[in-house]
This record gives sequence, structure tokens and C-alpha cells, in this order.
Amino acid sequence: MNVHALKMGWLMHLRRLFAVFLLLFCCKTQLFADDLSTVAQKAATCFVCHGEKGNSTDPQFHSLAQQQSVYIVNQLNAFKAGTRINPVMQAQSSKLTKEDINNYGAYFAVQQPTKAGGDPVLAQKGKEKATVCLGCHGKSGEGNGEFPRLAGQHPDYLAEQLMKYKNGIRKNDAMKAFAGNLSDEEINALAAFFGNL
Ligand code: HEC
Ligand code: HEC
Repeated sequence: MNVHALKMGWLMHLRRLFAVFLLLFCCKTQLFADDLSTVAQKAATCFVCHGEKGNSTDPQFHSLAQQQSVYIVNQLNAFKAGTRINPVMQAQSSKLTKEDINNYGAYFAVQQPTKAGGDPVLAQKGKEKATVCLGCHGKSGEGNGEFPRLAGQHPDYLAEQLMKYKNGIRKNDAMKAFAGNLSDEEINALAAFFGNL
């Protein structure tokens, strides 16, 4: 074998390697896209209550669109483990695998949110009380990791959750401390403020 043939052999080898890399790269991105569309199909069961793509039009149910993925994962695990009590969501989450839970977190976190809105007069009152909340829930109520997005959420849902923390029905030390001192009027005002963001 002369030097030229040896070089050609190496070149062929390199080209083959390159083709394998290309294939891996293309299929990996493909797989990711497929994953989210597969999740979207599965998430249709969640849309029944939480609205199309996680935007609920029924104030009875809240929106999940653009909610923090870490927060969604934490809450689904809490329902599954029974540390957050809600019979509907305990049933919904009981059969979810770790992978399902991560997928739902990833899917809802990137959906375009809508704004539920809230009474503007109440919202103005809420704004005066909200500074302390923004430190964790974000300057625009957008949330951050384990701190949930509150912006644009249905005020009724936000008020209900604040009452649950206040009464110790939903357990979280930080939120118990912050909601514990709020009157019903303050809770409704804060809920209107965040619903309007
Ligand atoms: C039959 C109605 C229903 C269905 C279907 C449903 N949910 Fe829920 N979900 C609820 C209700 C009601 C709550 C509020 C529970 C509470 O008040 O604590 C909730 C709460 C949640 C929360 C907590 C949100 C927060 O802001 O704290 C997450 C996350 C969630 N659901 C995800 C899902 C996912 C993912 C699915 C689909 C696998 C799903 N839900 C299907 C009714 C439903
Ligand atoms: C020290 C950080 C911190 C501060 C300050 C704080 N929160 Fe929270 N909040 C959290 C965490 C963490 C959670 C999620 C707890 C859980 O897992 O149940 C939460 C959850 C909530 C929820 C439930 C959201 C949902 O989707 O179910 C509401 C509503 C809320 N906070 C409102 C407020 C308001 C209003 C204030 C200001 C009065 C406030 N928070 C101040 C950390 C904070």
C-alpha cells in the first residue's frame, strides 16, 4: 500500500465518522421536537381542565402556560406523594412516571400565556402590598424555578391558594409566613394585582 492509498483510506474513515456525527446530531434534535409534540398529544387530558395549551378560560381552573418547569415538577411530585392534597390532581398524577412529569414541566413552561385580568381598582390596592412578593415571584410576577409564576393567573385561584396557605391546608413555610398576616381584603387585592400583570 503506497502513501496515497493510505491517505485515501483515512479520508474515507474520517468522512464516515463525520456522517455518523451528522446523523446523531440530526436525530437528537429531531427526537426533542418529536418529544414535545408527543407530550402535546398526551397533555390533551390536562387541557380538559387547564385549558388548551395550558391557558384556562374557566376561572375555576388555573393556567399552566409559561409556569416554571421546576415548579410544575415539584407540584406534580407533591400531588403524587400526597403532600399537596387535592383528590383530582392526586388521581391525575398517581400514574405519571418521572419522565412524564419532567415532560409536562418542559411542555407547559414554553407555552404562550394569556392574561386572566382582575378588578383594576382592587389591583391598584394590591400593587401597594406586592413589593415583598416580587423578591421571590419575580419583578413582573414571572416566577423563577421553584417560585411559581403568578402573572396573568385567575385571581380566584390565587386568592384560594393564599387562603389555603394561611389556614395551613397547603403547606409551605415561606408562604405560611407571608399569607398568615394578610386579611381577606389584602388577599383579594393581591390576587387582582397579579391576575392583571
Ligand atoms: C379534572 C380536572 C383536572 C385535570 C384533568 C388536570 N388537572 Fe391539574 N389541577 C386541577 C385542579 C382543580 C388543580 C388545583 C388544585 C388545588 O387547588 O390545589 C390543579 C393543579 C395542578 C397543578 C399545580 C399548579 C399550581 O399552580 O400550583 C399542576 C402543575 C397541574 N395541575 C398539572 C396537571 C397536569 C400536567 C395534568 C395532565 C396530566 C392535569 N393537571 C390535569 C384540575 C385538573
Ligand atoms: C421567600 C420567597 C417568597 C415570597 C416573599 C413570597 N412567596 Fe409566594 N411562593 C413561594 C414559594 C416557594 C411557593 C411555592 C410553594 C409550594 O410549593 O407550595 C409560593 C407559592 C405562591 C402561590 C401559589 C401559586 C400557585 O400557582 O399555586 C401564591 C398565590 C403566592 N405564592 C403568592 C404570594 C404573594 C401574594 C406573596 C406576597 C405577599 C408571596 N407569594 C411572597 C415563595 C415566596
